[in-house]
Amino acid sequence: MSNELLVVRDLEKSFQVGRGVEFKAIDKVSFSIARGKTLGLVGESGCGKTTIGRTVVRLYQADGGQVLFQDMDVHRVTRKQAHELTKRMQMIFQDPYSSLNPRMTVGDIIGEGLDIHKLYNGRKARNERIYELLEMVGLNREHAGRFPHEFSGGQRQRVGIARALAVEPEFIVCDEAISALDVSIQAQIINLLMDLQDELGLTYLFIAHDLSMVRHISDDIAVMYLGNLVEKAETDTLYTKPLHPYTQGLLEAVPTPDPIYEKQREKILLTGDVKSFKGERKGCVFASRCKYAADLCQEVKPELREIEPAHFAACHRIEELNGASRRR
Ligand SMILES: Nc1ncnc2c1ncn2[C@@H]1O[C@H](COP(=O)(O)OP(=O)(O)OP(=O)(O)O)[C@@H](O)[C@H]1O
Ligand SMILES: [Mg+2]
Repeated sequence: MSNELLVVRDLEKSFQVGRGVEFKAIDKVSFSIARGKTLGLVGESGCGKTTIGRTVVRLYQADGGQVLFQDMDVHRVTRKQAHELTKRMQMIFQDPYSSLNPRMTVGDIIGEGLDIHKLYNGRKARNERIYELLEMVGLNREHAGRFPHEFSGGQRQRVGIARALAVEPEFIVCDEAISALDVSIQAQIINLLMDLQDELGLTYLFIAHDLSMVRHISDDIAVMYLGNLVEKAETDTLYTKPLHPYTQGLLEAVPTPDPIYEKQREKILLTGDVKSFKGERKGCVFASRCKYAADLCQEVKPELREIEPAHFAACHRIEELNGASRRR
């Protein structure tokens, strides 16, 4: 499909975790995002979301697979193209407290990208552009001379967004851009990101660890477990008809506004922790926590397959558990 801005195919990334021991943080992950759209990427802590984001924007080298950004193969580019990509793809980082240099003014933090890509003519134009960017994210020009510690978490995240926008990117990885913030501030930042997307035609990979906030911003959602995608669907479909037991568990964990229901309902569908396997894995990555796991699940890894049109899941027992018609 020519409309795709980003296509990720069988992406792999491992980390050295000891002498000769490799940990496969990303295991053949594939997805694509159309221009102007948002893919939500959801999964518990440690499942590999940040690693995907960083590998997609070339902060990490991939060990296998491909990231195609329009006509560019992101991990096989010339130096000139690599420089171009630092302008076209940006990342907003997980922690608004540590991702901004405490010794730089907010103006200079935002101006850095402008300097690197020579995006202005003269001092005055530089300052004007910084003011404009501050206003775009709901801050004001007086903020340019201040330092990160003088801002609240929500304001810092706005600075992070302004910094990303400075180079006029087409694609932004928002890595838990809102997780560290209060719920009311989270909604404000989501709305800001959505307004900016409309205005500027941006494409997002929006990373979050639960399903509560991503619904509003995402066109499609991919659910990740231990380095693998286990389900992928259009957003409403994922919420109304989740197929994978893990997604169903994550949805159970989303709080509802009704306190009595909250108290009564059986909340712990998901038990145990994400195991961080070292070395070779066998079978389904979710099998150790899945209450439906059968012998086959312990032995053979299920592929991510299309269960219904544009709805993918990786589970041997999907049809059985969801009563859907059997399809190959
Ligand atoms: N630089 C690294 N060296 C070694 N292991 C790493 C490195 N970065 C990540 N990992 C490991 O890879 C796995 C995935 O980490 P990652 O940060 O991508 O997870 P995440 O889904 O973003 O988690 P969180 O929700 O906590 O941010 C984890 O087990 C982590 O310990
Ligand atoms: Mg992370």
